[in-house]
Amino acid sequence: MTLPGRATPRRKPAHVLANVPYRRLWTSMSMCSLGDWLNIIALTALAGNLTQSSGYQVQSLAIGGVFVAKMLPAIVLGPLAGAVADRFDRRLTMVVADILRFALVLSIPLVGTYQWVIVATFLVECVNLFWVPAKDATVPNLVPKERLEEANQLNLLVTYGTAPVAALMFAALSLPAALLGGMLPIGREPTTLALFLNAVLYLASAALIFNLRGIPKGHVGHAAPSVLRQVVDGWRFVGGNQVIRGLVIGMLGAFAAGGAVVGVAKIYVETLEGGDAGYGTVFGAVFVGMAAGMFFGPRLLRELSRRRLFGLAILAAGFVLALIALVHDLVVVILLTVVLGACAGIAWIIGYTLIGLEVEDRLRGRTFSFLQSTARIVLLLVVAVAPTLAGLFGQHPITFGPELVYRFDGANIVMLAGAVLAMVVGVLALRHMDDRKGVSIFGDLFAAVRGERFAPEAAEERSHGLFIAFEGGEGSGKTTQSRMLAIWLRDQGFDVVQTREPGATKVGMRLRAILLDAAHQGLSPRSEALLYAADRAEHVEKVIRPALRRGATVISDRYVDSSLAYQGAGRALDQEDVARINSWATGGLTPDLTVLIDVPPSVGLTRMASPADRIESEPLEFHERVRREFRALAATDPDRYLVLDGTQAQNDISRLVQDRVREILSDPVPVESEEATGTMPAIRD
Ligand code: TYD
Repeated sequence: MTLPGRATPRRKPAHVLANVPYRRLWTSMSMCSLGDWLNIIALTALAGNLTQSSGYQVQSLAIGGVFVAKMLPAIVLGPLAGAVADRFDRRLTMVVADILRFALVLSIPLVGTYQWVIVATFLVECVNLFWVPAKDATVPNLVPKERLEEANQLNLLVTYGTAPVAALMFAALSLPAALLGGMLPIGREPTTLALFLNAVLYLASAALIFNLRGIPKGHVGHAAPSVLRQVVDGWRFVGGNQVIRGLVIGMLGAFAAGGAVVGVAKIYVETLEGGDAGYGTVFGAVFVGMAAGMFFGPRLLRELSRRRLFGLAILAAGFVLALIALVHDLVVVILLTVVLGACAGIAWIIGYTLIGLEVEDRLRGRTFSFLQSTARIVLLLVVAVAPTLAGLFGQHPITFGPELVYRFDGANIVMLAGAVLAMVVGVLALRHMDDRKGVSIFGDLFAAVRGERFAPEAAEERSHGLFIAFEGGEGSGKTTQSRMLAIWLRDQGFDVVQTREPGATKVGMRLRAILLDAAHQGLSPRSEALLYAADRAEHVEKVIRPALRRGATVISDRYVDSSLAYQGAGRALDQEDVARINSWATGGLTPDLTVLIDVPPSVGLTRMASPADRIESEPLEFHERVRREFRALAATDPDRYLVLDGTQAQNDISRLVQDRVREILSDPVPVESEEATGTMPAIRD
């Protein structure tokens, strides 16, 4: 029983796979996906094997034919099948489709002719046109609305995740086929075994779905619009935005590079004397690489601009593809194929994320479905066209001597052309979507490899303005000192901007009010750090950078080090995190000189006149930690810090500051007499 006024304890929602009917459907989907991938590998391999004696050209065309037969039904009959599938009972549709697929696939090795391979492939794809919409419409029947997203992700996982599994299974099947070949009644090919396995998987799926009682009798519901329609509609709004257009073209280019290898893998591997196991491995290598790229991509080179990483990944994909085309060694080709897949995976995931950030909420779903359908079409097109073109080019051995023959066949030409295309797309992406124009890409890349942000802004601005920050604990006298330095520099004729944190901008003033209001005692450390960083971002963008750009000297009372000391050490947040958000907030802008005025908190806090604000009223240990951190920061880079004992007389301190600043000024300033420093304003910190 629930007591009034008490919330019912919320049970942790069970995983979507805990739902038995959905789990069954998902299992059946996994089996079918695995079957589908085995099917495509086995059939292309079989087509190659059946036409082996007819020469390179015929063989390539034969393999291209299988891909075309696979692709055609979805494009030509897609909308029609969708409308017809609409009328039938979903469960029955899936069961009948599975049995038909079982029979068709089984018949392929039994008939054993190339013509039947093509006809059966075409028919299996026609049946798929019914199975897929029935399955898609069933998922929302079995899964509650709030779990649909999770279910969709799982669906995507099995659709692509089964590809490398199937490829490796196919490669592994070559072993028993080689061992048991003599004993098998039909053929000694791994293709036969793979097709048997494929057929059995469809049959098992039929049995599972037959027993799935949870599917409502009703018909499929509204069929999804045809792939072609989605693409045409999608381009209307995607094409209008330059950045999104660039991302989409880049992503498809990267995908196509992977597709080119898949398309010609069979014939290429054959010229490298790799056989079926080699083919399966190359096929799997693309997908293994892609999965790795998608997984590690977002974590890669964090300091590098994402748009640049995107362009570089595509460029690298092109480069690796060229190597694959030129290096004639199966092991090297397989390793390079993993790298190629990884580059494509990185480009895909980075592009996907960037689109997610650029496209407004309302259009995001449509943009992604557009991408998925175009990617499918591009992949199928490339996979079909690549071997066909390779066949048309034929074989071109280049003879360097009686022993030395370098084969430059159609497969190599097609891959090289694809490589050039990917490189062009990569360069265009780098040029048109660059968000760090004027910054050397190599400098950026090398810095990112070292885990640093390349900060040319600082280098470029140093030659114009000068940036000096004052840091220190409460009551250290740094505000007074920064004012005195400003006065002195102005007297020398310098253009000086004296500013402070927090609160130097309009927005900053409001943030300052929140941050220092003693009423906000419970503010969480992370929000505190973010608010200071927000104030700083605004400060850098609106005040500091513009001033430096025009050649002024900027003197800021507090900067990034305050956050490292107060939020990092004081609030015990992770230093790296605080450093990272601040480096992001400031675009990597660091002061040319930081003056740290160091006083023991016991002294500084007693100097305060007005009532303590939220930070000042922290306990003494807090301020001790802050002080230690300031000193530690200064110790790491003595060239960029001037540490002064804040208990000295103000005049002495200001003279030491002037001496140091004089060293870094572009125009020399003469050493003056003591009187010139004028009267001291009262300490205000
Ligand atoms: P302020 O009155 O300007 O203090 P001071 O005169 O000592 O500079 O208030 C700034 C307060 O905000 C100060 O207590 C230190 C704190 N602070 C941070 O905790 N993190 C930061 O990044 C900055 C800039 C200030």
